[in-house]
Amino acid sequence: MKIGIIGAGHMGSTLAHLFTAAGDDVAIANSRGPDTLLDLEAHLGHHAHARTAEQAARYGGVVIIAVPFGHYRDLPAAALAGHTVVDATNYDPERDGRDERLEHGSVTSSELLQLHLPGARVVKAFNAMRWDHLLDHGRSAGANRRYGIPVSGDDPEAKRQVFDLIEQIGYEPVDAGHLGEGGRKHEPGTEVYAADLWADTLWARIGVS
Ligand SMILES: NC(=O)c1ccc[n+]([C@@H]2O[C@H](COP(=O)([O-])OP(=O)(O)OC[C@H]3O[C@@H](n4cnc5c(N)ncnc54)[C@H](OP(=O)(O)O)[C@@H]3O)[C@@H](O)[C@H]2O)c1
Repeated sequence: MKIGIIGAGHMGSTLAHLFTAAGDDVAIANSRGPDTLLDLEAHLGHHAHARTAEQAARYGGVVIIAVPFGHYRDLPAAALAGHTVVDATNYDPERDGRDERLEHGSVTSSELLQLHLPGARVVKAFNAMRWDHLLDHGRSAGANRRYGIPVSGDDPEAKRQVFDLIEQIGYEPVDAGHLGEGGRKHEPGTEVYAADLWADTLWARIGVS
């Protein structure tokens, strides 16, 4: 599969590592340009390609966003139209600046991202586990138990694509519901956030069938 990743820090480079190791081709971008990603590209091997954010957005059917949430308005909306966009970001008022709508819970950060990207199908996933745990906690298919990754979104087909990605890197997707309702279930401050739960436990807490 061809996957774009925008954001090449802790989270973006971890996801790039996991997906290239699984045999996917990844185009990864940061804000400073591909020349600053050559070491990472070399480290990740021939499945990885350093690109601009615009190029990463157009690279594959699925594009993962792993930038500080406060930068979401910089994302290339036209290039992301028609794509499944995986929102791995979290709102952090100290880092991103205080947003009253998010503070009061009238909207979730993923819904704001969806409003910025009207042509994309936004799915929230990979936001609830620390990058260094994500790197280590994957289990091969058939393992007795696998860790769960909560997923929320409004488009069933886009969600299925993200479920497949999660399976590929050794986790079990847990459907948490719609983007807004589900997003609230696995954001910072919720009981499952950074709790590293087995899939069955996670499903019992926030899953929908
Ligand atoms: N760290 C975790 O364990 C963790 C876990 C779950 C979710 N998250 C979420 O994932 C997101 C990234 O966190 P992180 O820890 O990976 O941050 P980080 O290490 O600071 O990396 C941020 C990356 O985003 C890039 N970036 C910033 N603005 C951009 C833009 N406009 N276009 C393209 N790239 C841009 C930065 O590029 P430059 O360096 O070139 O500016 C950098 O590569 C955050 O929303 C965070 O809340 C993090």
